[in-house]
Amino acid sequence: MSEPRIDHIMQIGLGFWASKTLLSAVEMELFTELAKHPEDLHTLQGRLGLHPRSARDFLDALVALGLLQRRDGKYSNTASTDLFLDKGKPSYIGGMLEMANQRLYGFWNHLTTALRTGEQQNESKGGGAGLFAALYADPARLKQFLGAMTGISHGANLAIAAKFPWAKYKTAVDVGTAQGDLVVQAALANPNIAGIGFDLAEVGPIFEDYVAHNGLSSRVEFRPGSFFEDPLPRADVVMMGHILHDWNLEEKKALVRKAYDAVPSGGALIVYESIIDDDRSKNAFGLLMSLNMLIETPGGFDYTGADCMSWMKEAGFRETRVEHLTGPDSMVVGIK
Ligand SMILES: C[S@@+](CC[C@H](N)C(=O)[O-])C[C@H]1O[C@@H](n2cnc3c(N)ncnc32)[C@H](O)[C@@H]1O
Repeated sequence: MSEPRIDHIMQIGLGFWASKTLLSAVEMELFTELAKHPEDLHTLQGRLGLHPRSARDFLDALVALGLLQRRDGKYSNTASTDLFLDKGKPSYIGGMLEMANQRLYGFWNHLTTALRTGEQQNESKGGGAGLFAALYADPARLKQFLGAMTGISHGANLAIAAKFPWAKYKTAVDVGTAQGDLVVQAALANPNIAGIGFDLAEVGPIFEDYVAHNGLSSRVEFRPGSFFEDPLPRADVVMMGHILHDWNLEEKKALVRKAYDAVPSGGALIVYESIIDDDRSKNAFGLLMSLNMLIETPGGFDYTGADCMSWMKEAGFRETRVEHLTGPDSMVVGIK
């Protein structure tokens, strides 16, 4: 057994201090401001509307957290915050943090209630519309959610575009595509691939803008529909990123069966998200994501690679494998 220590406990217990400091900096677009040029305390205080009592501690805390640098009294971004948290760059991933700040931070305050009742703690608490209906009722929230999904998925999407044996296939459908970053990255890296993004009709215009922005309108198209009510578009490869974890076990299995029906013999299903290690002891992000699904959905949960492969086998897929992508994300591949 290792030596008893308090620092690990306190770092996690008070982790919300650092978390909220970063989320407020993203909310105030501090990193976007500093991407233009370094600024001194006085200028930043005025630009961001900071109180004199808070400004210096806020900025210096971000320096100590490794999110800003300070040289000769001027603050600047680090290489990471400049690339990923400047809204002016296509590499911006702050959408997820914006959503965390506006929605999840408050909802997670009710984690104990969720742990005791098993009930979701978001906009749909106490019944009412499901997560997606609640999000999509408000166009600004819809856009924010879809942008957040791109932020959290982009690294894994690049890895899937590079690692999967795309040369064997011609068509791919991304089911629950959101803005469409997965099918966009797969098509950009593989000119042999024609892609479809399948999602609820409200998502169409935002998907089409993103595809056009990436110069892929001639090779990637949107198909509206519901994956519970409609058959999935047929394709050689069906992809599901951060889809299965939103739903309960029966719904998960129904989606895997639908994917099986949509691909030809030799076709593939790629399921990816923060797949939990089979021992359920290492991928803390995946396990916490599952608690996030407790907060966000009536029956959703994250799962191990072994769980997902068993659902694929049950649906009829003849070969299955798990491949690590990046960070906490892995893909589970089934071949029909
Ligand atoms: C958690 S997001 C995942 C987005 C994207 N695949 C990714 O990994 O970044 C879930 C997606 O499923 C879509 N969705 C939810 N219910 C759906 C349904 N019944 N039919 C089709 N798409 C649905 C949502 O609109 C949303 O884009």
